[in-house]
Amino acid sequence: MCGIIGVSGVHDAPEVIVEALRRLEYRGYDSAGMTIYQDGRLVRVREATGTHSVELLSKHIKDFQGSDSISGLGHNRWATHGKPSQENAHPQFDCSGRVAVVHNGIVENFLELKEELLNHGHVFSSETDTEVIAHLLEVALIETDRIDFALAEVFSKLRGAMAIVAMETSRPTLLACVRRTSPLIIATNDGEGFIASDIPAILGRAKHYYQIDDGVVAGVELGEINAFKLDHEPAEPREFVVTWDLSRSARDGYDDFMSKEIMEQPQAIRDTLAGRLQLWDSSGIKLDELRLDLEQLLGVNKIFMIGCGTSYHACMAARYAIESLCKIPVELDVASEFRYREPKLDPQTLVIAVSQSGETLDTIAALAEASDSGAISLVVSNVVDSSMARMADAVIYTHAGPEVCVASTKTYLAQIVALELFAIYFAKLKGTSTAKEIQALATALTDLPDKVEQLTNRFAEMIQVASKVEAFERFYFIGRNVGFPVALEGALKLKELSYLPAEGFPAGELKHGPIAMLDPSSVVVAIATRGRLWEKVMANLQEVKARGAKVLLVANEGDQQTIAEGDAAFLVPQTHPLLSPVLDTIPLQVLAYHLARFRGFDVDRPRNLAKTVTVE
Ligand code: M6R
Repeated sequence: MCGIIGVSGVHDAPEVIVEALRRLEYRGYDSAGMTIYQDGRLVRVREATGTHSVELLSKHIKDFQGSDSISGLGHNRWATHGKPSQENAHPQFDCSGRVAVVHNGIVENFLELKEELLNHGHVFSSETDTEVIAHLLEVALIETDRIDFALAEVFSKLRGAMAIVAMETSRPTLLACVRRTSPLIIATNDGEGFIASDIPAILGRAKHYYQIDDGVVAGVELGEINAFKLDHEPAEPREFVVTWDLSRSARDGYDDFMSKEIMEQPQAIRDTLAGRLQLWDSSGIKLDELRLDLEQLLGVNKIFMIGCGTSYHACMAARYAIESLCKIPVELDVASEFRYREPKLDPQTLVIAVSQSGETLDTIAALAEASDSGAISLVVSNVVDSSMARMADAVIYTHAGPEVCVASTKTYLAQIVALELFAIYFAKLKGTSTAKEIQALATALTDLPDKVEQLTNRFAEMIQVASKVEAFERFYFIGRNVGFPVALEGALKLKELSYLPAEGFPAGELKHGPIAMLDPSSVVVAIATRGRLWEKVMANLQEVKARGAKVLLVANEGDQQTIAEGDAAFLVPQTHPLLSPVLDTIPLQVLAYHLARFRGFDVDRPRNLAKTVTVE
């Protein structure tokens, strides 16, 4: 989705803006633009050449030479209102070019606002909802000479989830920002002020990072922040600590972020487990940040797990552990559906929302619904102090580090691990599992990073196996029990990256319909590691083979009996059955990676996708 950067008092402003936009590319975008205050006016450049836009923008850096060029705005646009084009790219200006605005999200009532502005003689040069904000600021600036005060007035007229940054020429060092649900952070560093939609944009440049609440307007000028509520009552921006380092947001010699992040998976799991598994301690699990009242937690009699895309698959993979250890009913829902089916929620219901970014609007909306109904909410997020982390009663952070590739890999594995930690914690609290059962899972979790590493170290070997199906164009993924979410995630990864038709099914469902699609031109990827339903998967494989489909297996190392049933096999180490989704998914990430690269596609920035989906 759109990426925002604003800088004030920064002597290399054009370079910093372009670099921030480069680092925000991973969010997904189709056009980009920037404006710098120079020689008394706002100079603007915009490019709309898809994912090359920022590269083209960088060629304009040399055009900004003025000694007063220390403030400006930049934006990567992911089109919602109006096609990707230079005119629709941000920053958007008012009639006179005095005001510049960059914006993420949607102004739901923009049509009525635009009509009113047109009736008053404003001239529009784009199809965007964003331009409405610039013209409204132009009007508000008749009454006040401060852009932050003007923004407060305008913001109360706008409906929808959004983040806005604006500046104007009479005081160009003063940037104004405000947010509702959409992410936005402020940062400072010795006389420099920054506003960005995501931490990596300014990592390494800023020293102090701040969050502002929904509906709080902040004026950011040369490293000073003046925050206030819409009624002009003062507000305190909350400082938060960023532990990510720049090297984890850089490619570090890898061809792309996806392969780097696949290779970082052992560390992501180590960091997510660190300090939390106290095997020597009778309490077993330490989840310091959980901040839930234990009595309240003990009263929980039902759990809902919600998320979108890969995060939804993490919910599905971890449900088996929670149900089996905690003996409690767990329902699953895609977040965008959850809120519309009127689930029965009360203070004895725990809603677990899972999100890498913590900013996905569908999940935020579902979480808000759950909280309004009195349910207890727990968020699993990779981003500290994300919107969801702040909304929920409790939070468990995955410590996977920044994930830049649009397709989730390391954060997915970390989510499953975090949820399994919660399963152990809750089971111990409720006394629903034996010490032996808990110990077995806890020990397997401790061994997990090394097993993941054994697998990622064999990246090249997995590519070899994947290359055997390069020529195929239709893929079906099957699995049973904990293998089912693996099949869904494998199919999602392949669709996202290689644009090949791919579907995931429970293996037992094949014969109820999907089997009609199988023929020798199709590939069936079967999750056939040894688990409770291994024999049944084997039986389903016979049905597949009888239809002549090519069979690619995910099987355990040394399991010759299974390996003999396929045309090729990815081999994974054995682990506790509840953790097998963690290992079994890795070869499928590599499969999607290879087939996308084989077809010449950009694995980090697949078409049409955004890293953080901030629209419903
Ligand atoms: O940030 P979130 O985990 O809430 O994002 C949810 C989905 O948009 C995300 O998992 C998406 O499916 C990824 N592109 C998967 O690779």
